Amino acid sequence: MTKTHTGRSAVAALALATATLFGGASIATAQEVNVYTSREPGLAQPLFDAFTAETGIRVNTVFIQQGLAERVEAEGAASPADVMMVVDYGGLIDLVDRGLTQAIASPVLEEAIPANVRDPDGYWFGLSMRARVVYVSAERVDIEALTYEELANPEWQGRVCIRSGQHPYNTSLFAAFMAKHGEDATRAYLTGLRANLARPAAGGDRDGARDILAGICDVAIANSYYVGLMRSGTGGAEQQLWGDAIRVIFPTFSDGLGTHVNISGAAVAANAPNRDNAVLLLEFLVSEEAQEIYARANYEYPIRPGVAPDPIIAALGTLVVDPTPLVELSEFRQAASRLVDAVGFDN
Ligand SMILES: [Fe+2]
Repeated sequence: MTKTHTGRSAVAALALATATLFGGASIATAQEVNVYTSREPGLAQPLFDAFTAETGIRVNTVFIQQGLAERVEAEGAASPADVMMVVDYGGLIDLVDRGLTQAIASPVLEEAIPANVRDPDGYWFGLSMRARVVYVSAERVDIEALTYEELANPEWQGRVCIRSGQHPYNTSLFAAFMAKHGEDATRAYLTGLRANLARPAAGGDRDGARDILAGICDVAIANSYYVGLMRSGTGGAEQQLWGDAIRVIFPTFSDGLGTHVNISGAAVAANAPNRDNAVLLLEFLVSEEAQEIYARANYEYPIRPGVAPDPIIAALGTLVVDPTPLVELSEFRQAASRLVDAVGFDN
């Protein structure tokens, strides 16, 4: 028995080695794509599975919550990364600034993704959007519209909740403010907004809804997808109560053009060993089919116009996106961050 067993094992081991050898050879040519992602990989896994079913290209994901850019940088020319997926356009521009991405010219991507939420030179592409909205108390606030500027007005004194002014969600918003109004107006705005805070700028976006339910604040600046996470029950029964305590208003800037959005997005790695597969994957991710799946998985807005978001998000109303290209905001991020400190926003 033992001898037979050993024999079988040896055969099995040989077969496995052979399969690995041939599998490895074919994979290296055209059968796989390697995705480095700082997002929870479970969100995109159904999409990757669908991509594999359609193309036969296997998707290998590496989840790197912190230090994705540093990892790819350290791997250098030998990096197996083909696609890098991150949240926040600042993270994508950081990848570009480090020389870790390559330009992709794809009519499919250019047609599916509006110009303001992708890099004009093709170094990165938005895949989904999150709107920086305002939660208001369903009980105590009856306004239907609001501008970001108005939140600094005295009528909101002691009524506003927000997370740290240094959080990327907020520096992105404040950079957009600065792009429209300039530095002096932004300093005055941050001073006024800080004066209106009901509590120190801290915690997360959902805490704004929690504190509205508790009567601590009447309005909170927060991301749209958290409403889906709260109201769906994904975050638990308590968060459902927070979600039900609020209404959502889509603010615009005073120019009335639209609501500030940020993105989750992707870039093709400079040294991608499977570049063509990387482009195929990105093109798949902006297909109508994939956009609908992705938006429902994370309660974000599809980047592709005409694709419906999750019903919970759709019920909030219509998102009109501020048309300022994100790439134009990036130059204001650092200055906005400095102003946050200068006015003691978080103190
Ligand atoms: Fe978030």
